[in-house]
Amino acid sequence: MVCTGRAPPIRELVETPSRWRGVKTTCNNHIRNRSGPARSPHRRISPAVPDKAPHRITFANEKGGTGKSTTAVHVAVALAYRGAKVAAVDLDPRQRTFARYFENRGETEIRRGIRLPGAKVETFTGSTVEEFEDVARRIGEGADFLIVDTPGRDDPFARHAATEADTLVTPLNDSFVDFDLIGQVDAETFKVRRLSFYAELIWETRKARALSRRQEIDWVVVRNRTGHVEARNMLRIEKALKELSKRAGFRVAKGLSERVIYRELFPSGLTLLDKGHLGELGTSHVVARQEMRSLLAGLNLPHGDTAANDGPAPGTKAAAA
Ligand SMILES: Nc1ncnc2c1ncn2[C@@H]1O[C@H](COP(=O)(O)OP(=O)(O)OP(=O)(O)O)[C@@H](O)[C@H]1O
Ligand SMILES: [Mg+2]
Repeated sequence: MVCTGRAPPIRELVETPSRWRGVKTTCNNHIRNRSGPARSPHRRISPAVPDKAPHRITFANEKGGTGKSTTAVHVAVALAYRGAKVAAVDLDPRQRTFARYFENRGETEIRRGIRLPGAKVETFTGSTVEEFEDVARRIGEGADFLIVDTPGRDDPFARHAATEADTLVTPLNDSFVDFDLIGQVDAETFKVRRLSFYAELIWETRKARALSRRQEIDWVVVRNRTGHVEARNMLRIEKALKELSKRAGFRVAKGLSERVIYRELFPSGLTLLDKGHLGELGTSHVVARQEMRSLLAGLNLPHGDTAANDGPAPGTKAAAA
């Protein structure tokens, strides 16, 4: 896992944003629960407290096809395997990739007579932010996590979901085309010239939240589909991301490598975590599961047991199957 940034303390963010922007940051261990106390990233998942809002994880990137839905599905299933109650809203009523993935998963359960850990999923088709919040509240009731998968375009609900996130995950392919969404680089030196509109939006949101004393957003840029670009390009991106992470206030985590299997699992709704249901995959899936574990550790979610298993957690439906 690469971890290059740490969100600033709220007071510092409000009072000295420009000073903080230049400060070298470290991996975050600072996340606070919506309702207050500091959390250890190494705690096992415990059942949600009834009146507590679930931890919101929004997957957002206005650029299409960066792996938001694929990563979101895998994170949702990984959390479910660890015994968490997971709810999710798919904000793309046209594609419904996330929702369809879980529909396919449900059909596989019926077809094969198996039980798999899953999530309560709803596709949002409303037209106001208030309606979205109603859906989020209803579906998220009693859940530990609320995952929001957003469309890869400029969308008012996606922006809202990004600004309401506890953890904002922005998957990015190792390409300056994707990078451009967060910051622009110099054509000759590849040094970051300025933040993009999207990064400014998140920056402003964090400022506003700090002023209203709400919990800050933990913004994690996830390098997705790595391994298929040449080393020099990867290095350039890595350097540029490191520089930008300090200016824009995000952390960088390693996501999923480029693997054909991620494209092939959709029809069955299975994930690489569904050990025993995938058939013969060779050894690559073992490495891929390790990637998933690293990704989850990199997200540093509340109650997450970062050293936890990737198989059925005791008490889950899968364990009972
Ligand atoms: N790690 C990966 N390895 C190989 N293929 C991948 C990987 N991640 C995603 N893909 C493939 O890339 C395509 C886009 O992925 P996905 O739908 O998850 O992106 P997205 O950001 O949600 O797209 P959109 O912006 O359209 O919602 C899909 O065909 C998916 O199967
Ligand atoms: Mg998608």
